[in-house]
Amino acid sequence: MFAGLDEGRKAVFHTLLELAEELGVRVYLVGGPVRDVLLGSRVLDLDFSVEGDGIAIGKRLAERTGGKLTVHPQFGTATVAMSQCRADLVTARREEYPAAGQLPHVTPGSIADDLERRDFSINAMAIRVWPEGGDLLDPQGGLDDLESGVVRVLHRRSFADDPTRMFRAVRYEQRYNFRIDGGTLSLMASAVSLGDMDSVSGDRWLHEVEKILDEAEPGRLLLRASALGLLSGLHPSLGNDAGLRGLASCGEEPHDPDEWLAALFGPLSARDGRAVAQRLRLTGRRAALARDTIKLRDIEADVVKMAQRPSGLYRILKPFAPQAIAARTKLTGHPSARRALSFYLDELRFVRTSLNGDDLLEMGAFQGPQVGEILTQLLDARLDGKLSGREDERALARRLLARTRKGATN
Ligand code: CTP
Repeated sequence: MFAGLDEGRKAVFHTLLELAEELGVRVYLVGGPVRDVLLGSRVLDLDFSVEGDGIAIGKRLAERTGGKLTVHPQFGTATVAMSQCRADLVTARREEYPAAGQLPHVTPGSIADDLERRDFSINAMAIRVWPEGGDLLDPQGGLDDLESGVVRVLHRRSFADDPTRMFRAVRYEQRYNFRIDGGTLSLMASAVSLGDMDSVSGDRWLHEVEKILDEAEPGRLLLRASALGLLSGLHPSLGNDAGLRGLASCGEEPHDPDEWLAALFGPLSARDGRAVAQRLRLTGRRAALARDTIKLRDIEADVVKMAQRPSGLYRILKPFAPQAIAARTKLTGHPSARRALSFYLDELRFVRTSLNGDDLLEMGAFQGPQVGEILTQLLDARLDGKLSGREDERALARRLLARTRKGATN
């Protein structure tokens, strides 16, 4: 069963086998890695469920392997980051959801309870860590679904309990070229129409969006999520998926995850963009990417006008994140805008003056704003092709210095 695992992961199994015997507990490989072993896919992280104290096993695994331990006592989980892989250990548990979209109440349980609380049958299988490799535990018919390529929830309340599972369903369906089963699709449609998605925090949604962006073909996943009404369930304005369709139809080359995020925001008004960014609690670089993508669309006519004068184009585009400009280059429907944006991206933004502030001070400039002003004028002249080399630049700098000195004496 574990023949497909590399030596590093097999070593983790041996250590866990020893620990299970020493502590008299049962340890199971569970969820994603079981699914991937059965599919013959590459197994990355290892998830284990322990009938007993998962944290105690995690601590000992970290001691024996020299891995870095992180524990979450409130959830009964431990993570051990080792050189070869990461192992997540959970105390086998029963879960009860106090309200839709809230985190569940957790109580220790058996492996059967632990499989019953999971999202899909294909993720609800386990194999005991056992000397000869244990038998497959498959109480939910996961193997059949895996063989027929079906993503199926275990019970009717699954999406109401945890609406993030709807994005997860799309992820597995598209990743493995499976299909979401009919009953599961109906439950999804009713969870969306009942507004269940509203109960989940922005951080949790962002985590799901990030996981989609990390997949091999985020565009395909996002378009499927859109077709199922999941994007408009996040925020009504995301029902407009023209940006996603535009990016998807633009050439064969794989797009950067940032470009897909930009494509989500591409068609939105500034106001809706702010609302969606807030809903997803976007911060920092990604918030800027969303904002800049929208703003760039709104100033597109100015960008085209400025393209006549490279320094003007440079000044108008300089404040924007290059990733947003790259995304807009692909999203715009106007060839002249595309040309102007590419010109900035491929050439103008790399143009530099050969003189720097120290050179100007040596030439007699006063320390202070004057230096910056002259450098700006030199760069503009360079961008507009008015200077052909360092000597031209020095000559212009001398003229500008003389002019400011004259201004100061008048
Ligand atoms: N799980 C769940 N409901 C969720 C999230 C996770 O039931 N909302 C369960 C599933 O059984 C899943 C396991 O917890 O297999 C581990 O979750 P995660 O690491 O997110 O998924 P993987 O199955 O490992 O999938 P991936 O390959 O995408 O990492």
